Amino acid sequence: MASLPILQLGHPNLRLRAREVLMDELLGDELQHFIDDLIETMHAASGAGLAASQVDRQVRICAIEVKDNPRYPYKPNIPLTVLVNPILEPLGCDRFDNYEGCLSVPNLRGLVKRHAELRLTAWDRHGKPIERVIRGITAGTFQHEVDHLDGLLFIDRVEDTRSLATWDQWKAHHEAAFVETVRNVVQRYGS
Ligand code: NI
Repeated sequence: MASLPILQLGHPNLRLRAREVLMDELLGDELQHFIDDLIETMHAASGAGLAASQVDRQVRICAIEVKDNPRYPYKPNIPLTVLVNPILEPLGCDRFDNYEGCLSVPNLRGLVKRHAELRLTAWDRHGKPIERVIRGITAGTFQHEVDHLDGLLFIDRVEDTRSLATWDQWKAHHEAAFVETVRNVVQRYGS
């Protein structure tokens, strides 16, 4: 396994729409090794998720895992999940304010509105169908990663640019209020 370089804001390839993966291709050694590298890279960078687009591979694959994450200590845990060709469909109109950061956007966080409940349809890394409902803060994390596969970054969805903050300033001035939001969202949606 290898840790791959992560593209940074301004690299044009972060803005491409990634293509769908075929089943034969997914089950081949090359893409399976790539998925191992994607997970390794996410772990090495302490990310809550990483999309193939961020390591300059334009295929619709992303990895998500939250396990007592030092970058996001308030996030509910999510077991390691690899999504291939994911589709997210909002259920209802509920949205919440999510303070996001990104491994491709160094030292910046901003408030983004995310759907609180979605239906997820995807394959896992072995091509097994996944269909389930995801909710709350966890749903925010999934939306952030799937956005990457469409060439979108969280900053594109920031409605009030006055919410933008460096990580130090965020910790000093915004963390406490956001942790309260997280508590309410988790209470309401269970994750
Ligand atoms: Ni990101």
